[in-house]
Amino acid sequence: MSPATSSKKIGILTSGGDCPGLNAVIRAVIKCATKRGWEVYGIPYGTQGLISLEQGSCGIQDLRLRDHGFDIPGRLHGVDVLQFLSGSILGALNKGDPSDPLIAEEILEGYRLLGLDALIALGGDGSLDIIDDLARQGGWNWIAIPKTIDNDVPYTERSLGFDTAVGTVTRALYDLTFTAASHSRIIVVQVMGRDAGHLALQSGIAGGADVILIPELTPKLNDRILDGICQQIVHLRQCDRQFALVVIAEGVRNQAGDKEKYIGDLLAEQIQRHGTQLCQTGQPEFCYLKSLETRATTLGHIQRSSPPSSFDRLIAAAFGRKAVDLIAEQTYQQLVIWAQGQVDSKPLEAVMPLIKARHQAHVCTSPVTPSNPWVQTARDLDIYLGDPLAVGNADS
Ligand code: F6P
Repeated sequence: MSPATSSKKIGILTSGGDCPGLNAVIRAVIKCATKRGWEVYGIPYGTQGLISLEQGSCGIQDLRLRDHGFDIPGRLHGVDVLQFLSGSILGALNKGDPSDPLIAEEILEGYRLLGLDALIALGGDGSLDIIDDLARQGGWNWIAIPKTIDNDVPYTERSLGFDTAVGTVTRALYDLTFTAASHSRIIVVQVMGRDAGHLALQSGIAGGADVILIPELTPKLNDRILDGICQQIVHLRQCDRQFALVVIAEGVRNQAGDKEKYIGDLLAEQIQRHGTQLCQTGQPEFCYLKSLETRATTLGHIQRSSPPSSFDRLIAAAFGRKAVDLIAEQTYQQLVIWAQGQVDSKPLEAVMPLIKARHQAHVCTSPVTPSNPWVQTARDLDIYLGDPLAVGNADS
């Protein structure tokens, strides 16, 4: 354990969408900070909680978080539930516009009232961008912890919540496999990730998908992609697989290049129609597709709510502890990261320019790159990724 330092008052907030593991970080922060004799304040609903404080709808002492050992209601027979629960006990909010100077002023005033020595903020790229601006205006000492099932925060190999979401999607693919196989159907599964394909790619590989479409490799659906999917399905049949699992990341766009809320449903219809067209243009091997049914499943928010995996609990513990250690050393304005199998940190001044530029340009802050090892792994496992060459096997 690191040596105790002078008493501090620190705050913690969870900003943006929730993800598994937030409560485990909060728990780790409470434990590590309490051990040092510090006070911890949980700010509800992200920066909105600071507005509530400024407006007097909550008091400072209402926000105090304590390490109660195993002795508080909700800790059934000594079970420390906080570590296991997904969601955020502080509440999460991905609305509000602190770029409005009046709102920003309320937030800054709430922070002044709270009188913190430092703030730990858990957020994805958007939240980090917003809080960084506020921190500059208010002169806050703060530590950022990356969280998002999209795994698209740059400079960290992992963001909190991603591993659990990969497990959730992988389980869903397993569950869908048997109904797809029984009915010889093509099941299209729409996976979250915003503009990033990490979740679809990794869970697709782990869940045995035959096709994985991610925005980095398949920005939009077109006839070439549909040809490739139909060829893959025909190829599978030649290998005695009568069904197919097609994973599509929500960031893939329609043929016109527009976002679709239910891109998976659209793809399922298009596969059926395209297969029929290929058959009608005198390519008999595709006529098999005419009799195949397609169905689509949009996994939605279940991807955010499973109990955190052991890996997410581990990085939650490591991230929370690291954030407290950094504050103890007075090394502020840091992004806590996971790099080469361990926790570390990077100065925000080095990471924020890229995060801000990409977030403000509405482009993915940390996309799947062509050299991502999972891309090559998927190709080598004969998963169709929308590449012109990769149907079945590049050699066939
Ligand atoms: O960023 C996390 C995420 O779950 C994305 O994968 C998804 O597009 C989005 O949030 C959904 O946001 P909301 O909860 O506002 O529907």
